[in-house]
Amino acid sequence: MSNRGSFSSRVGFILAAAGSAVGLGNIWRFPYLAGQNGGAAFLLIYLLFIFLLCFPVMVGEIAIGRSARRDAYGSYSALGGKRWGYLGLFGIIAGIFILSFYNVVAGWAFGYFLEISFGSLLNEGDFGNFFGNYVNDISDNLWFSLGFMVITAFVVSQGIQKGVERANKIMMPALYTILILLIIYSLTLDNAWAGVQFYLVPELDEISSQTIFDGLKQAFFSLSLGMGALITYGSYVGKNQNIVSSAAIISFADAMVAFLSGFMIFPMVFSQNISPTEGPALVFIVLPEVFHDMGPLLGRIIGGSFFLLLCFAALTSTISLLEVPTTYFVDQMKMRRSRIVWVLAIVIFILGLPTMMSQGMVPALNELPFYLNRDFLTFISDMCDISLTIGGCLMCLFIVTKWKITNMDNELAEGNPIYMRTFLRNYLHIMIGYVCPILLGGLSILIIDKYFGLGLFF
Ligand code: PFF
Repeated sequence: MSNRGSFSSRVGFILAAAGSAVGLGNIWRFPYLAGQNGGAAFLLIYLLFIFLLCFPVMVGEIAIGRSARRDAYGSYSALGGKRWGYLGLFGIIAGIFILSFYNVVAGWAFGYFLEISFGSLLNEGDFGNFFGNYVNDISDNLWFSLGFMVITAFVVSQGIQKGVERANKIMMPALYTILILLIIYSLTLDNAWAGVQFYLVPELDEISSQTIFDGLKQAFFSLSLGMGALITYGSYVGKNQNIVSSAAIISFADAMVAFLSGFMIFPMVFSQNISPTEGPALVFIVLPEVFHDMGPLLGRIIGGSFFLLLCFAALTSTISLLEVPTTYFVDQMKMRRSRIVWVLAIVIFILGLPTMMSQGMVPALNELPFYLNRDFLTFISDMCDISLTIGGCLMCLFIVTKWKITNMDNELAEGNPIYMRTFLRNYLHIMIGYVCPILLGGLSILIIDKYFGLGLFF
């Protein structure tokens, strides 16, 4: 396994893992969930989950990957036997499904970027109508998401250093720059302050069980946890690197982008006196309206930059999503990276077709039967969310019952000589040993109960 590649430096790994974390989840999903769940109240819950619950899970995942130096399946089976390997496989399959729908939404963003920057999208009168038709008619969409998948596959086919690391080193700084410029602009708009207030002043009575469930799902999805992405990236990290501090920086970088996205979006939304509770349409319907009102030239520049930002964020995540099964096939089946990447890209693209057709084109996919009664895109993304929290819970159980927490400690001490004497070590023991598995397991059960209306607790 000597020639499987590795990140060239600590910065390379941190940028790639932060790139995986920062994605549509931060810029598209976080603001609309915050908008629907009371703004600041949601932000608070989200940040608590990220730093208290998710950070230890991230440390655990990276440690597993770096210790075993294999794909997600290979890592669990090498450290815990074949049976645990299925947990890795479960994550790889979840990742494939996430990429199948994620790539469709990324394709929408890519299309919007092109149509705003170079086309006439901003001349549309009714953006709600436009978006409805846009996602319904897949003739354009198909090409945009195919294009997105091809770019992703190209990067991954180039390998860890030349592909994944290099792409992230360019796109992540670009992403932060565009984000900061857009925030500065956004804060100069009329009524921007009302947006900031909605976003920063929590009303604690806004917190409901839904806020907590959404906050947990969002935190897990946002940090790319629970499905082996960080095991995979961790397997390419050098032994001299400090996992704990890297994980802290990655979590911080991710939370920061989500936090800043709110700062960019809510002032824009409030400047137009639009309700922030629009849901998934917030970015695709409400923002184009804002860009339209900026006038033809400024709208094109600011709107184009926004959707370019969204594309960069999505791409650094789709790269990591495709890397997970790629590493599996390279490590386990000894396949050539440059070939298997393209096979996977085609298969996953085809898996995304039902998602693409679920926004109106095929009524049966737009309204799934029985108690599912949602569209296929929502359904599959909900299922993936649930599998991530379950995956995170089982990962903790794996560390505690099979791999043993002392082995994790030894792994974390490599590249961090003082780790054994730090308070963080005790903290990680308590979190991974008790708090995370209990909370993640319990909340996963509650989420499933509520989602499927099983009536066990709700
Ligand atoms: N973290 C990404 C986002 O917030 O958009 C989504 C994601 C990427 C989830 C990679 C899981 C993953 F492995």
